[in-house]
Order: sequence, then C-alpha cells, then structure tokens
Amino acid sequence: MTPVRVLVTGAAGQVGVDLVAMLRGGFPPGADPAFQPDGVAVATDEFEVLGLARHEFDVTDRDALARGLAVARPDVVVHLAAYTAVDQAERDVEACYAVNAVGTGLLSEASAQVGAHFVAVSTDYVFDGEKGAGYVESDAPNPQSVYGASKWDGEQRCRMEDTIVRTSWVMGVRGRSVVHVIADRAASGSTVRFVNDQTGSVTLAADLARALVTVVRERPGGVWHVANSGVTTWFDLARFVGHEMGRGDEFATAITTAELSPAPLAPRPRRSDLDTSKWRSRWSALPDWRDGVARLLRDRPAT
Ligand SMILES: NC(=O)c1ccc[n+]([C@@H]2O[C@H](COP(=O)([O-])OP(=O)(O)OC[C@H]3O[C@@H](n4cnc5c(N)ncnc54)[C@H](OP(=O)(O)O)[C@@H]3O)[C@@H](O)[C@H]2O)c1
Repeated sequence: MTPVRVLVTGAAGQVGVDLVAMLRGGFPPGADPAFQPDGVAVATDEFEVLGLARHEFDVTDRDALARGLAVARPDVVVHLAAYTAVDQAERDVEACYAVNAVGTGLLSEASAQVGAHFVAVSTDYVFDGEKGAGYVESDAPNPQSVYGASKWDGEQRCRMEDTIVRTSWVMGVRGRSVVHVIADRAASGSTVRFVNDQTGSVTLAADLARALVTVVRERPGGVWHVANSGVTTWFDLARFVGHEMGRGDEFATAITTAELSPAPLAPRPRRSDLDTSKWRSRWSALPDWRDGVARLLRDRPAT
C-alpha cells in the first residue's frame, strides 16, 4: 500500500514531537500502547512523515508555504505550529495573529491548492468559561484573551472541509509544561500554590498525538473536542502530582485567581473543560487525565 504523506507543522513543539514519532509507528515517552482509539495499531510504513520545525517552514511566509507544499505534495497537513505564549500575546498582538490567525488561513488555502486535507489544532481558550460545564463543538466561542481570539480567528479562516481539533491544557514529556514545574518543586521539598477556581481538561501530548493519527486516517472534517477524560483545577492537578511523588496534602495550597501576584496579563476562562462526547460517539475515549499525568511523571527525564 502507498504510504499516506503527512506534513506536520510545529514539529519541534510538545505535540509535534510526539505526533511525528507516532506516525512513524513508535511510542514516544508518556504514550500508552494500549490506547488505540480506532482499534488499529500504527504500522511503521503506513505514513510518510515530513515534520517541519519553524526554521524549516515558517507558517507566516505565504510563498514558502506554497513552495513547500508544492514540493512535499502531502495527502494531509497537520498544523501544530502556533504562538502559544498566552500572557506574552497580550503585548505582542500582531505577532500572535500572524501565526495563529493569518498563518492558519494561509496554510488551509495552500493545502487546498495541492489537494491535501487540512487539520488545524485549536484551544478551549476560544470559550469565555461562563457556560458552567462541558463545552460542546457547537457552543459559541467568545474568547477573552488575545491568544484565544487569534486561535478563533484562525478557525474561522479554515474551510468547511478542514478538520479542527480543539484541545486544552496540553502537557508533554518533552517541553516544560506545568507538570514538570510542579514535579521539580515536589522533589526539592518546597511547596506550591495553585488556583482552585479555574477548571479544565488536561491533555497528555502523547494521547492527543495518537488521537491525531486517527484524524489523519479518517479525515472527518468539522470541529472535534479532544482531551483526556475527567476535569480538574490547577490546584487538584498540583495536589495529584504531589501525591504521585510521595508528598502529603501540605505540598499544594489552593488559592483564587484574584490572589495571584503579579496578576497574569491574559484572562483565563473560569471553566473551559471540553465535552468530548462527539469524539466518544465515534472512537474510544482518551484515558483519564490522572493516568496520563502519571505516565508523564514516569517517563520524564531526570532533572
Ligand atoms: N499547550 C497547550 O496547553 C495547548 C492548549 C490548547 C491548544 N493548544 C494548541 O495545540 C497546538 C500544539 O501546541 P504545543 O503545546 O505543541 O505548542 P508548542 O510546544 O508551543 O509548539 C508550537 C510550535 O510552533 C512553532 N512555531 C511558532 N511560530 C511558528 C511559525 N511562524 N512557523 C512555524 N512554526 C512556528 C514553535 O516554534 P518556536 O518554539 O521556535 O517558537 C513551536 O515549536 C497549537 O496549535 C496550540 O495552540 C495547545
């Protein structure tokens, strides 16, 4: 069988590294080999993967995109490149929009020109967090931050045929996610304070990557919410990590967002957990977030 050609942008990011490894039939650190949402393991020759980092493929460069896609001739483009510094974006609006909004639109258009299916990854921060619980795909976005607004703008620049995967609170073994920070504090004997009034869905990068393999295979089109099962607050996450590392309840203290000092530049939704029932009606659920975080802790490099 001819391998499916997949071009991945943002391939050096936390999700990109894991997606490239999975498309090559491997299991990156943190992955659960038993999690196969479509029931079929990835064969090493199923995909021909071109994972491109920023210096190789800048998604803000229209000519480079057109040239790159014309040469690569992918069947599917998975767009993970993004401006993800949520607070910095409040002061760097133009640069954030150039990548997340304009770049996404350019890549959707360029993918269509070479007949490739386009998959864009977006965020729970497109929502204002005031719904109460569990955002479904048809809920109206109302972003509160520059980052959230730029990602929503990017979604709107996609074509009807494209697939948009919204995910949230992504944590990878690679990179420097909040779990690494909490784990280092737990190991050093110090304590942490985390907010208990922001609720969301944790997503392990390796689990999201495996879900994206399913999307690449099936090219469903439309919007899909993908996150690990269960909801949590940042405080509950910190307490869980502490317990996993042998610390008692004294390790993590719950505070409110109003107590954060200095106050973060970007407002965060109060409750932006994603309802994944659409995904679960077609494929199997992602593992519970505690299972994912435990795998991250198990496989993270020693510091
Ligand atoms: N992280 C989260 O909590 C989270 C939550 C919801 C949704 N998402 C979405 O999930 C996707 C993957 O996120 P991630 O966590 O893997 O992010 P990440 O680790 O920050 O990776 C993003 C990558 O995009 C690259 N990039 C930035 N500007 C670029 C440009 N102009 N051209 C090409 N590449 C560029 C970055 O390169 P440099 O490092 O060199 O800048 C980085 O390698 C993104 O769409 C993000 O918005 C993330």
